[in-house]
Amino acid sequence: MYLGVDYYPEYWPISQIDEDLEGIVGLGANIVRIGEFAWHLMEPEEGHFDFSFYDNLMPKFKQHQLKVMFGTPTATFPAWLAKKHPSILAKNKDNTTRVFGGRRLYCYNSKTYLHYAKLITEKLVSHYKQSISIVSWQIDNEFGHEGSDLCYCEQCHVAFQQFLAKKYSHDITKLNEAYGTIFWGQTYNDFNEIPIPTSTITVHNPALQLDWARFRSNSVNSFALELVEVVRKNKGEHQTITHNFPGGFFENKWYDYAEHAQMLDFASYDNYPVWGGLAKPVSPAEIALGHDFMRGLKQENYWIVEQLIGAQGHNVIGYLPRPNQAKMWSLQAFAHGCTNMLYFNWKAMTKGAEQFCMGIVDHDNVRGRKYSEVKDVFNIAKSYEAVINTEIQSQVALLYDFDNIWSWRIQEQSESFDFKTHLLSLYEPFYRLNVNVDVIPTSRKLDSYKVIVLPAQQIVTKQLAERLDQFVKRGGILVMSYRTGLRDENNNIHYAKVFPVYFDQMAGIVIRGSEALSSGTQIKVKSDHEQASACTVWRDLIEVTSAQIIYEYDDQHFPYAALTKNEYGKGEVYYIGSQFEANVLQKLALKICEKQQLDVVHTPDGLEVVTRQLEGRSYLFILNHTDQPITWKDTTYSAFEAKIVSISY
Ligand code: GAL
Repeated sequence: MYLGVDYYPEYWPISQIDEDLEGIVGLGANIVRIGEFAWHLMEPEEGHFDFSFYDNLMPKFKQHQLKVMFGTPTATFPAWLAKKHPSILAKNKDNTTRVFGGRRLYCYNSKTYLHYAKLITEKLVSHYKQSISIVSWQIDNEFGHEGSDLCYCEQCHVAFQQFLAKKYSHDITKLNEAYGTIFWGQTYNDFNEIPIPTSTITVHNPALQLDWARFRSNSVNSFALELVEVVRKNKGEHQTITHNFPGGFFENKWYDYAEHAQMLDFASYDNYPVWGGLAKPVSPAEIALGHDFMRGLKQENYWIVEQLIGAQGHNVIGYLPRPNQAKMWSLQAFAHGCTNMLYFNWKAMTKGAEQFCMGIVDHDNVRGRKYSEVKDVFNIAKSYEAVINTEIQSQVALLYDFDNIWSWRIQEQSESFDFKTHLLSLYEPFYRLNVNVDVIPTSRKLDSYKVIVLPAQQIVTKQLAERLDQFVKRGGILVMSYRTGLRDENNNIHYAKVFPVYFDQMAGIVIRGSEALSSGTQIKVKSDHEQASACTVWRDLIEVTSAQIIYEYDDQHFPYAALTKNEYGKGEVYYIGSQFEANVLQKLALKICEKQQLDVVHTPDGLEVVTRQLEGRSYLFILNHTDQPITWKDTTYSAFEAKIVSISY
């Protein structure tokens, strides 16, 4: 098990390094991550490769029994490179060029950048091929973060046109047909006439926009693959390859993480429950969702290579994690499948862009509370290493795919719709019952699950629908929500089909119309068996064919069903036609878990319990997410307390 810190030795005076390493080792650490922004140090002038700074450090790491994860440094290129080849700089939507000075500024489609990036990667990795200290290579740093997966430069424009020509077999009529360009007179005679979606009046064609999103994803992942291949070819056999995925996958990223993860030996995550000016951390369920998503990328446990310990931000900082809160978040990560953890970062810097990204040690260079917390976490993790390494078994899967996420981002349809918020509203009820959930792409095997949640899946292929049909017939419960089956793979709406397309029989319903509910609009819903409630965001008007109505709109104009359940084969299909209140979704999740005989653990609000199994024993990760004591089963857990306890039945 690797436990450690992110460290920027090049930043600190050389005279401090021994003291730092002694402090890092004092935490119980056995690894440091270094190097990911240090290209200039390794190639101060074009072609002058110099790794002496790190060569001098390696014996020190060895002496302290510290292994190394080395970041390939392509997230920040040297100034001389930008000066010599300004074409490597990405362009904003407004055609302005990103200026050297920040980070992640390069264009993924710049052949020039790729050339230089591959070269420094090759030189670095081959230089340290034999190094026993270096156990892993991190490729670049947080692909796509901070808006860096988008670029609107001429190179991207040409590459986009080529991408489309390939996709549509060099037949422009196929593209015209797929996009419906006859409308608004947009018919193209040649692929070289196709625009990239920069600013226009009203909107670009939705099919073109989805292809643009796929192209962006392809640009990031192809670039990454080139670098991964260079590392694979030049590394030592004992060295592994990873990438540190940033958050924001459901909200703002334009590349497919799951596809990306397949080229890596393991996925790594940068876990920041609070960042920048946030007044409070994101919700416990949302943090858990991030972990479950990470574990789902390769459907195996993963690393965290940046785990938050102090307040973070570039210009603005907000909430300071309370005593023991960051420790609790660390144990939560282990509970959800993280097996190796590095904290960001060892020590807060006094100069440069990250002065307010606080570390284990702050600017005063005192080893205080945070130091003790990290030490505690490392002790606990080591004692429970075997438990932490067990694979997590889930009987509930939440499915997503990036085409669908991008389709929603391109057209939100309701000004109050947010994909992540919606997805979270269907994840959280299971999370609150302390039921493990795998968050996985729609393409994965479904056999081992008893419950599948499919949030707002507008784009559904026939194959997916057939697989879900089999899943339900065999006895599974499928939960789907509004707008399911609306669109085809081109991001166009189906014609003359029964909606929800492919699911009408399974769900026993027909959608007779829909309404976007703007912020502040609520629709009352009533039920024969359940308490009256209210809905927001969106409503599908459901007519039942074979389904049973659980809720219907309390509306004289549209007296349709709002939430239905259909028995189908040996299983059941729920269709949630609107954004229901949390308590309704909570009751529904409980009913589903009971029906499928899933083990639920009832805990008070804010107390998360994750159960892991090892050799006939159960281990409970008990996590108090609140700033108040919570009593559960005769034991009181203090504010932000977290512990692992073993129980035998
Ligand atoms: C991460 C990034 C790190 C550092 C950190 C600050 O997103 O990978 O390099 O910037 O944020 O919190």
